[in-house]
Amino acid sequence: MADASIDTLRSHFQARLAAAATERDLKAIDDEFLSRKSGSVTALMQTLKSLPAEERRAFGAAVNALKSEIEGALSERKATLEASRPPAGAVDVTLPGREHAAGRIHPLMRVREQVEDIFSRMGYEILEGPEVEDDYHNFEALNMPAEHPARDMQDTLYLKTAVRAADGGRPATLLRTHTSGMQIRYMETHQPPIRLIAPGRVYRRDGLDLTHSPMFTQVEGLVVGEGVTLADLKGTLVGFARELFGADRGTRFRPSFFPYTEPSGELDISCAVCGGTGRAPKGLVPPKPGSEAAGEGGCGMCKQTGWIEVLGSGMVHPAVFEAVGYDSERYTGFAFGVASNGLR
Ligand code: DAH
Repeated sequence: MADASIDTLRSHFQARLAAAATERDLKAIDDEFLSRKSGSVTALMQTLKSLPAEERRAFGAAVNALKSEIEGALSERKATLEASRPPAGAVDVTLPGREHAAGRIHPLMRVREQVEDIFSRMGYEILEGPEVEDDYHNFEALNMPAEHPARDMQDTLYLKTAVRAADGGRPATLLRTHTSGMQIRYMETHQPPIRLIAPGRVYRRDGLDLTHSPMFTQVEGLVVGEGVTLADLKGTLVGFARELFGADRGTRFRPSFFPYTEPSGELDISCAVCGGTGRAPKGLVPPKPGSEAAGEGGCGMCKQTGWIEVLGSGMVHPAVFEAVGYDSERYTGFAFGVASNGLR
């Protein structure tokens, strides 16, 4: 009976030791079996008193043997654990690497990719051009000679003159105010038919507000050929706006003026914030009093008009064709610049 309880305790100890993986586990086992107050070996030893005198001796010896067996096994295991412990400050090269956050595509890039996708499907070529531009490509060849009042429409950021050898030593004097210079750059080196878009950053001396920033992204477009008409312009641009913004958004054309197109027009889409009503939607924080967008319950996004301008456009002015040496009797074309004033 007494031997049986010793054997039970021994096999219990062996199972616990087999499962121990850390020094902390060993300490817990030590407490469980050998603690002076509550250890199970200690408790077993205390049952000695209740045994008949002739059994006490053998039982006492057996319990003591178990006790030293446990002590021995624990210290042996402790030594093994200590030996395998890495030195202080060691790096565990078997650990898995830290996972990197994958990142996401910036909203601006996402829209740019959508725009490129839409025009690619319509057979347009996609170009990029220099952000540091010269006066000729940004203004002059676009029918805006020096002193032309239309230059004031865009507050230009001028640079210290830098000569670009690639352009025949033409001085690059400004940060492009629009991507329209790409029309000239392309026509200088290519013949019609042309179908291109040129997305990229543009710069203006503008303060930052809901619809303005000193740097923004435009997408220039140019189509040139024989018999290209205003109907082509409207069909293309309304089709584009529906693809990009959704068929449920309203569109409207307004007459406008650009020196490099005649006639010129701007395309608006209905405001997504107020649903085209011009009134501030419920639950939306109204614009600051006194700000441009303020007005009792007015929509701050579209300045209460219900419309947002998304692009300027028009039929290419004959003077532009002449600047690049095209026959303006033979060729016609349309051009556009997306994200012009309204969303810049
Ligand atoms: N360049 C104009 C702007 O920055 C946008 C624009 C209007 C581009 C008419 C064009 C165009 O090509 O034909 O606001």
